[in-house]
Amino acid sequence: MDPWGLTTAGLLACVLLLIFFSLWSQEFKRGKLPPGPTPLPFIGNILQLDFKNIPASLSKLAEKYGPIYTLYFGMQRVVVLHGYSIMKEALIDQGDAFNDRGIIPVLEDIHKGRGVVFGHGERWKQLRRFSLMTLRNFGMGKRSIEERIQEEAQCLVVEFRKTKGQATDPTFILGCAPCNVICSILFHNRFKYNDEKFLYLMKLLNENFQLLNSPWSQLYNLLPAFRVYLPGKHKRLARNVEEIQRFILEKVKEHQKALDPNNPQDYIDCYLSKMQQEKDNSHSEFDLENLLVTGSNLFTAGTETTSSTLRYGLLLILKHPEVQAKIHEEIDRVIGHNRVPSIMDKQDMPYMDAVVHEVQRFIDLLPINLPHAVNQDIQFQQYFLPKGTTIFPLLTPVLNDSKEFPNPDQFDPQHFLDMNGKFKKSDYFMPFSIGKRSCLGEGLARMELFLFFTTILQNFSLKSVGDPNEFSIRTNRFRFSLPPYYQLCFLPR
Ligand code: HEM
Ligand SMILES: *[C@@H]1O[C@H](CO)[C@@H](O)[C@H](O)[C@H]1NC(C)=O
Repeated sequence: MDPWGLTTAGLLACVLLLIFFSLWSQEFKRGKLPPGPTPLPFIGNILQLDFKNIPASLSKLAEKYGPIYTLYFGMQRVVVLHGYSIMKEALIDQGDAFNDRGIIPVLEDIHKGRGVVFGHGERWKQLRRFSLMTLRNFGMGKRSIEERIQEEAQCLVVEFRKTKGQATDPTFILGCAPCNVICSILFHNRFKYNDEKFLYLMKLLNENFQLLNSPWSQLYNLLPAFRVYLPGKHKRLARNVEEIQRFILEKVKEHQKALDPNNPQDYIDCYLSKMQQEKDNSHSEFDLENLLVTGSNLFTAGTETTSSTLRYGLLLILKHPEVQAKIHEEIDRVIGHNRVPSIMDKQDMPYMDAVVHEVQRFIDLLPINLPHAVNQDIQFQQYFLPKGTTIFPLLTPVLNDSKEFPNPDQFDPQHFLDMNGKFKKSDYFMPFSIGKRSCLGEGLARMELFLFFTTILQNFSLKSVGDPNEFSIRTNRFRFSLPPYYQLCFLPR
């Protein structure tokens, strides 16, 4: 063998040895980490996972190792939380330690820890507090968030009426509505559903969502070292995010010209005022870059989640005619046909409230949640979790808990009703996760779901095309549980 070959072979051997050694020493320190299956070099435990149904594989491992265990997703060490009580113990009782965001490799390179979804420490705290206040209507002018949603719900009805009872795939229209709600909050105007700019924005959001949910991105997340071989798609993802941010930047510039700090109309106005207030504070997190990233976060986190839930929900209602009949009865009794539904109606509509909860429970939109991380070394139960450890606080085991929800695999609004037909709350209802890092848009999303479902069913009877039982309801589940494509008819009532 020539000397170069020897050197290369020697180097390779050294590298492999080093990798083995580091994994082995991790293994060695593991005395203090939660138990779990032994990882292989590079690929970790991925052979133990069924990629068609990750939540099921994770539950199987919990049967063997208990409610908290360690798993290697490729080279990334992850501590999995499985079940209600461990979730509560970590995210609530020790919430301050568990509220850091874990890394999603495919997004990390793009966001670099900016914005509210991927921010850490003080930056995250400031952006989160500000965004929550704004979404709760503090200082956003006279029009409440509820009014913005009601307006959009009426536009949705107009759009569905145009289908004249013909078979329709609702995907596009149900995607427009939540996107427009975010537009209305960020820059106080909605778009027509055929506006070119709006369609372009939707296309970008949609494409990124597809990219994020593709096998390609799962591979990337498992084995970040692979990214050098997968540059094309990653570039596309990054470019789309940039385009969304450019779109927001345009709006920001318009707002800067017309800003009246005493009379802010929307999120961008509020943010710009805040920037002015803090312009002498060199540690302020309220800079332009965080505005663009947070704005794009709100679009990404708030559009596809809500629209998939609506789409899935209508399909479930189609499949259960008895549920639709009860909803119609309740709407006619409480609201009638002469006024638009408002959020106040919810307290008089326990059945609708239960349906919305059951839709969210049943569809289990984000089975493995978003990753968290511990922001300090901590002692948790009898284990030691080093600072930075990635945590997967799983939602499926809680939403599908068979003690709390008998027959958890069935769609049944009775899961949220008591014997007298009153709404029954459950602590196990956590599709938005729990604790300080839980969904920032929970209040908004719940208002949208109630108002959109109620307004649609106030105005239409849903009729299926063909046999609704043909659609399989449970599809591939990894990051998102998506409904199948389907058509239905909206018959005016
Ligand atoms: C049905 C609709 C929705 C569901 C099921 C949902 C669910 C979730 C979940 C599970 C998380 C991760 C929480 C955690 O890490 O513990 C999350 C985070 C987040 N969601 Fe939502 N979400 C929905 C709608 C929305 C909407 C409409 C918005 C827009 C305002 C939004 C904005 C966010 C943001 C900004 C975060 C990151 C929070 C942080 O890191 O502090 N979500 N969501
Ligand atoms: C939900 O629970 C039921 C009953 O315990 C089980 O058969 C089913 O596989 C679970 N589903 C998921 C997605 O974990």
